[in-house]
Amino acid sequence: MADRRVYIDYNATTPLKAEVKAAMIEDFDIYGNASSMHASGRLAHARVEEARAAVGKLLGTPPKNIIFTSGGSESNNTVFQTMRRLAMGEKRTPLSGGEGKVLSEGRTEIITTSIEHPCVLNSAAYLKTLGFKVTFLPVDEYGTIKTDAYKAALSERTLLVSVMMANNEIGTIQDIKEIAQLAKAAGAWMHTDAVQAVGKIPVNVEDLGVDYLTMSAHKIYGPKGIGALYIREGAPLFPLIHGGHQEDGQRAGTYNNIGILGFGKAAELAFDSVDRYGRELSVLRARLRDGLSAKIPNIKINGHPTEVLPNTLNVSFPGAEGESILLSMDIMGIEASTGSACASGSLEPSHVLMATGVGPELAHGSIRFSLGWGITQTDIDYIIETLPPIISRLRAMSTLAS
Ligand SMILES: Cc1ncc(COP(=O)(O)O)c(C=O)c1O
Repeated sequence: MADRRVYIDYNATTPLKAEVKAAMIEDFDIYGNASSMHASGRLAHARVEEARAAVGKLLGTPPKNIIFTSGGSESNNTVFQTMRRLAMGEKRTPLSGGEGKVLSEGRTEIITTSIEHPCVLNSAAYLKTLGFKVTFLPVDEYGTIKTDAYKAALSERTLLVSVMMANNEIGTIQDIKEIAQLAKAAGAWMHTDAVQAVGKIPVNVEDLGVDYLTMSAHKIYGPKGIGALYIREGAPLFPLIHGGHQEDGQRAGTYNNIGILGFGKAAELAFDSVDRYGRELSVLRARLRDGLSAKIPNIKINGHPTEVLPNTLNVSFPGAEGESILLSMDIMGIEASTGSACASGSLEPSHVLMATGVGPELAHGSIRFSLGWGITQTDIDYIIETLPPIISRLRAMSTLAS
């Protein structure tokens, strides 16, 4: 095993930033229940609300439009379950007042994409079992949704359009603003899973025109097990977790104030650094892409050439098998992934790469490098130097085997 470790799997999760960790440690002593009336409770409550304001600021919205959840998966499930209950005819006043103009009558169709994270894909698949018509939109070779197919699927029966802002495996960014305009023109609710976009590219809910947006703290150097859902004023929401009055009755359970505070700190830092993130990481990404392309013959870069996250580089190495590449890299101290962390352990080829038209064999030989704060030029050069002999050895072995 090499002494050196290069963690380049930041789309799976990120380490806590030092400032986030320090803020959380400080908050361990604030033990009051944020719903209690006394001074200890009020102190905890004030910290929760500061964090909500920081998350709102990061997304360009007032804090009242944000609820805290246990993460991206819960936020996405909350939106899909809300649609189920709307379609069942349940009525509920929207989060931020208003008469609860419930826009569900006769609408039982959902449009999403074939490259979503499993928590959206499986939520949509579940609604399908209940009788919803669900369209999983196809994407082109770069992972961009096919607009014609989208327009053809939209109708006066569409209840929800849910399209991820940036893909976790290949980094392709969708034009959410345009997708939302079409969804709203058809009278549907618009949701985007922005878990991989927030903190990496500017995200502003007003500009995007979405009704719901999902994010997660552990992808932006905050703690695991905490996330948020943005809900546009007037959009309906049914709680997934029933109980007390926390989160304005939208999500019950004693506030996870240490997690929330860490999330708030991470959001504050992400707001301040998003431009620098794009500038600095795209340079390192280009160095990795160009270095690997120069040193390893016959590789394929997946994802969109320009509309792509500044930190995500997905590469196929024909003739080499992904798990073997990963293990060999791990021995050399390089920690990347094949596909997404949620899919690792699965023998199925990546559904995202397959949707872009990459065949199963090539999809099995693909590696996702996801960069983050902490990756240096020296780390990138170490990968560029370490990977070519690994790929030649594995290619030679697979030629021998065949
Ligand atoms: C695009 C996307 N959505 C949702 C999630 C789930 O978020 P969480 O881990 O906070 O449940 C992830 C995590 O990998 C993701 O990449």
